[in-house]
Amino acid sequence: MSKVFITCALPYANGPCHLGHLRSTYIPADIYARYNRMKGNDVLMVCATDEHGTPIAVRAEQEGVPPKEIAGRYHDMIKHDLESCNISLDSFTRTTDPTHYEISQNFFLKLYEKGYIYEQVIKQPYCEECNRFLPDRYVEGKCPHCGAEGARGDHCEACGRHLEPIQLVEPACLICNSTPEIRESKQYFFKLSHFQEDLKEWIENNEELPPNVKNYALQWLKEGLKDWILTRDMEWGIPVPLDDAEGKIIYVWGEAFLGYISSASQWSKRENKPWEDYWNDRAVHFIGKDIIYHHSIFWPALLMAHDCKLPSTIIAGEYLSLEGRKMSTSKNWVIWAEDFLKTFDADLLRYYLIANAPLTRDTDFSWDDFQRRVNDELADVLGNFLHRTFTFTHKFFDGRIPEPSKFDENDEEFEKRMKELPEKVSEHIEKFKFREGLIEIIRLAKYANKYFNDKEPWKAVKTNKDEAANCLYLCNQLTKVLAVLLVPYIPEKTGEIFKVLGMEEDGITWDDSKVQLPSGMEIGKAKPIFKKIDDEVIEKEKNVLYESLEDEDNMKDIISIDDFAKVDLRVGKIIGAESVKGSKNLLKLSVDIGSKKIQVVAGVAKKYAPEEVLNRKVIVVVNLEPAKLFGIKSEGMILATDDNMSLLTAEGADIGEQIK
Ligand code: MSP
Ligand code: ZN
Repeated sequence: MSKVFITCALPYANGPCHLGHLRSTYIPADIYARYNRMKGNDVLMVCATDEHGTPIAVRAEQEGVPPKEIAGRYHDMIKHDLESCNISLDSFTRTTDPTHYEISQNFFLKLYEKGYIYEQVIKQPYCEECNRFLPDRYVEGKCPHCGAEGARGDHCEACGRHLEPIQLVEPACLICNSTPEIRESKQYFFKLSHFQEDLKEWIENNEELPPNVKNYALQWLKEGLKDWILTRDMEWGIPVPLDDAEGKIIYVWGEAFLGYISSASQWSKRENKPWEDYWNDRAVHFIGKDIIYHHSIFWPALLMAHDCKLPSTIIAGEYLSLEGRKMSTSKNWVIWAEDFLKTFDADLLRYYLIANAPLTRDTDFSWDDFQRRVNDELADVLGNFLHRTFTFTHKFFDGRIPEPSKFDENDEEFEKRMKELPEKVSEHIEKFKFREGLIEIIRLAKYANKYFNDKEPWKAVKTNKDEAANCLYLCNQLTKVLAVLLVPYIPEKTGEIFKVLGMEEDGITWDDSKVQLPSGMEIGKAKPIFKKIDDEVIEKEKNVLYESLEDEDNMKDIISIDDFAKVDLRVGKIIGAESVKGSKNLLKLSVDIGSKKIQVVAGVAKKYAPEEVLNRKVIVVVNLEPAKLFGIKSEGMILATDDNMSLLTAEGADIGEQIK
């Protein structure tokens, strides 16, 4: 028996759980934990809410309540969401717990004492109105790289780049909107660069790290690691535990990881067992792909600096989109766990999100596809197999598992496949290929239905009762095998199967899949375990979701046809194109619009090389007030889509033609 320390990324306490969180992180972690427990391993699975950071602080200021209160509200909601999805955490705590403060501060101190944290004075935006520095999201402005409005002090949504607060163009304080000045401030840096070589060696030689994690990590290492700023001038957070560091807190990513440890240590206190034994045996992190950098580079470096054992592996689930669009909580393009579970069982969600695609690929949630999989796979394949087996056993064998006699070829084949299944599924789960394991199970259920059809036990009972008995004997055995192997995936539904079989679900082990049910054993009455989902139910869900899109459209002002006519749109041909020095986003274009030639600076360089746009006929706004971008005059605007930056073209049209 070995010990396993399983962690799930700590959800930010600024919103409830949605399907994306569950898909990438919590459901996979839970499958792995349940499987390990069934294999007799000693599992400690921990999580906590991540309660610091600027989003929560800003929100608290806007609502006029203490940040901890907001975090507490969401902690309760998230806890409820995770429990409703049967995520079997052993400990779920908060990063605002005193234990977490203590552990984080001690960790920081130790690194400081070992010389891995040093001081440096840097320039930071400071708001005189609000009397404070403006870290991260406290300041907004234009992105220095792509020019997009609304870039934040740490990140630009539009181009996805990391930013430092003083890089913003036309910065403004998020709270009072005034223009900050630049002041100097002392901060603490972590010597991340020092660990470049050690990290490289660890990542290259770690056989367990999956390719998506490895590749990302190596790519960053290739670019070279820079030291990390580990503190902020801010009230909300864990105070830097040094004498001359008043008003400074540890950056949220400098302490959030320790939530794994502080959660475990609170469990240790309660259970009187040392969490260290679990960590030192084997630690597995479950995260989503957006935080691979943090877990594969930053966290291992912190651990090295502290002289701790590194995790065994990091499993990163890729992203979930919704009906083909990127999920967005601000646009309400999201399905919250709680809403989903009002109508559907948690197991249907667990099943769908895992069966849908391998964890290492982005995938999409669509209501139609969800309905299809539930109806075709769970109801028609699995449900049907269970139901007909149990019903026939009652109808023809008094509700008892029949006595088998000599097997024919088909029976033998069936038995062989059934016996091979546990090992196959095991192998997949141990390689974190949860989908493949599930598919093996469903495939066998499908095969079993065919076997049942071919055997025609409803006829055989009259002509050759032994044959019918063999069939029902084997099928009953398989119901149990399937139930055992499905426990990690759909623990509630399997509970219902065990109930029919008269088995205690508590303490079921993986090896129980190999134990035979005795002939003569009485089984309970069959009842439908997987029901089909009606079209109307799905229609209703789709309507709810798409309503949020319509809301968004309504927010755009209606304009009159006259307003529209003010925009002079013409077909122009790009006759010259070159890149703009110092900008990865802009192209300088020369455009023939029929009556004259104009110069336009267009933000499409990420998508097109200059030679790719040359000679294209595009649509140009020609009566736009001229502007300067990167010091270059722009006399119009080329129409392109927003996210994807696809140029709108008019190949068949004449140069200079008006668009009305
Ligand atoms: N607080 C950090 C993690 C700190 S771990 C020391 C965080 N929180 S989160 O709430 O944004 O995300 C929680 C988990 O859900 C993370 O594993 C994240 O990668 C994952 N996902 C968030 N949005 C997601 C999707 N749209 N799709 C798939 N996974 C998503 O990150
Ligand atoms: Zn201000």
